[in-house]
Amino acid sequence: RQPTDSPLYPLLHAASEFYRQALKNHPARQAAVSYLKKRGLSGLIARDFALGFAPPGWDSLLKHMGSDPLQQKAMIDAGLLIENTETGKRYDRFRDRIIFPIRDSRGRVIAFGGRVLGDDKPKYLNSPETPVFHKGQELYGLYEARKHNRNLDEVMIVEGYMDVIALAQQGLRNAVATLGTATSEEHLKRLFRLVPSVLFCFDGDAAGRKAAWRALESTLPSLQDGRRARFLFLPEGEDPDTLVRAEGAEAFQARIHQQAQPLADYFFEQLSQEADPRSLEGKAHLATLAAPLIEKIPGANLRALMRQRLTQITGLSGEAISQAPTPSSAPP
Ligand code: CTP
Ligand code: MN
Ligand code: MN
Ligand code: MN
Ligand code: MN
Repeated sequence: RQPTDSPLYPLLHAASEFYRQALKNHPARQAAVSYLKKRGLSGLIARDFALGFAPPGWDSLLKHMGSDPLQQKAMIDAGLLIENTETGKRYDRFRDRIIFPIRDSRGRVIAFGGRVLGDDKPKYLNSPETPVFHKGQELYGLYEARKHNRNLDEVMIVEGYMDVIALAQQGLRNAVATLGTATSEEHLKRLFRLVPSVLFCFDGDAAGRKAAWRALESTLPSLQDGRRARFLFLPEGEDPDTLVRAEGAEAFQARIHQQAQPLADYFFEQLSQEADPRSLEGKAHLATLAAPLIEKIPGANLRALMRQRLTQITGLSGEAISQAPTPSSAPP
């Protein structure tokens, strides 16, 4: 699904090294260093995640890499340079930003994220889709998590770069991020080949809660018996980064221990908010929403138990439920 060999890999690697060196040596680096310190990150964690700095100016990387026209063309393909379609002028995509290299499972740099040092927009800039980078398939931090521990028993799925890194800084080294895209079935299939359990921990806001339900839907087709998914909902306004920095790793882990909700609980709780099971109409609606989702679960035992729970909630027998019409989409 990714080329084993591509001329883009060495270019991306060279760019990553350039950004890393710039964080260490560039005359303008102090703002970047202060920014990372302000966010509670140590030099060791910056090294583990190969963080870098794209210097200000339009052509720092361009100049560093030289003027070979074929190479410049490849750098455009790699998403490192942008070519102005009218003037033909080429310039650096990432400028004056903290650089987060995105690495594939073998540790090769395949793309970058770049964050502004202040409040400018856009906050994050990411590499475009390229022959070696397919956004919907990659998980930021998975290489680093696996490097730290080959035998993970659970992976935490978060929204952002800084969530992954802040958790790692506090010693929680099992987080991965979906890079601003929805958690896909593809993501889950990949993860469940490596770990038996995933924990979704999205931002405590409306977008995060919406992402959680979509993640649930993407998880269902991977739920063989023996696998599990859980959900941790954060207080309004918090994300894993702000929370773990505020309360520390132990409290964060206690929170997981006490509050992480099994997928089945979240499933029925959420649907019960959509369709009030206290009325007959609500029960009917709930069954209509739940049944087609439950049928996506490949684990025969979990599927049977979910059907049973639906029967308990609605009073509908299994046979009656399976005849419910399929709704076009699910809440929220
Ligand atoms: N994102 C993006 N482009 C944006 C905003 C967000 O690609 N303009 C992606 C990034 O991968 C980001 C993630 O979505 O890490 C989550 O977004 P958000 O919660 O807004 O950002 P944070 O990661 O919390 O950013 P920070 O803590 O640095 O402010
Ligand atoms: Mn491809
Ligand atoms: Mn957010
Ligand atoms: Mn966030
Ligand atoms: Mn954040």
